[in-house]
Amino acid sequence: MFLKSIKKVKVCLIFISTFISVFLITNFSFAAGDKISYPQKEWTFSGITGTFDRASQQRGLQVYKEVCSGCHGLRLLAYRNLKAIGYNDNEIKAFAAENTVNTIDDEGEVIERAARPSDKFVSPYPNQQSARAANGGAYPPDLSLIVKARSDGANYLHALLTGYVDAPSEKKVPDGMYYNKYYSGNLIGMPQPLYEDGVTYADGTKATPEQMAKDVTAFLAWASEPELEERKQTGIAVILFLLVLTLLSYFAMKKIWAPIKNRHV
Ligand code: HEC
Repeated sequence: MFLKSIKKVKVCLIFISTFISVFLITNFSFAAGDKISYPQKEWTFSGITGTFDRASQQRGLQVYKEVCSGCHGLRLLAYRNLKAIGYNDNEIKAFAAENTVNTIDDEGEVIERAARPSDKFVSPYPNQQSARAANGGAYPPDLSLIVKARSDGANYLHALLTGYVDAPSEKKVPDGMYYNKYYSGNLIGMPQPLYEDGVTYADGTKATPEQMAKDVTAFLAWASEPELEERKQTGIAVILFLLVLTLLSYFAMKKIWAPIKNRHV
């Protein structure tokens, strides 16, 4: 009788732990409401063993620099952080020095100096008002956290950048607004940023809008979560540790209960 109920508890525990593992591993989430759904792209950084594609990130940085940085800041990223995506100190120094920042000299005057690797990415506008004034009232948000800030962020960003189509005839598009099939409400204040060969990639990759959207998304996904690779590696180590621990506890339990199990009463 006693043994039987232990078995039942055991079966229950195994069932519950399997359920929890599947739940954690598949990153199961309960989607709510009816949202616009975006084409699901294959990202090297999704899944439990995901890592970033360095070449794609570097191309993405080029797209950000040559296209997006005219309107969008990236103020949470420092130039020296680019080391993580494969640039060396000299390259970072040169990259930073293309920008200027304000500083105060010994006489207390505001002067400009070239940006250093320790500076954060210089934003295109000094404040929100000037950003709005230059963009017909619409505010181009800082892109540092954009991939994390939107649900299904990477697919959303990719879809948004490639989602400019002709507006249906019954839809009025006011001046300074553009029609995008993936933007909520479809009218966006950002003109289409990506066109065929909009940049000339340093590594010779053909710069189609699709390619540029993928690359800039890979770069911005990293900017939003630079510790992603480390987090996933830790996760795998933790799961392996828990598996070993489960086995150990199972065999320890067997050994401890053996004398009682073998008592034929
Ligand atoms: C000419 C200026 C300009 C350029 C260049 C530009 N954007 Fe924008 N972007 C804007 C403006 C303005 C908005 C705000 C739109 C609105 O509120 O309707 C915006 C909004 C966005 C949004 C926010 C959408 C949301 O969900 O709120 C994202 C993401 C974005 N841009 C990404 C990019 C990327 C990536 C690039 C480079 C490939 C880029 N933009 C290039 C002006 C620009």
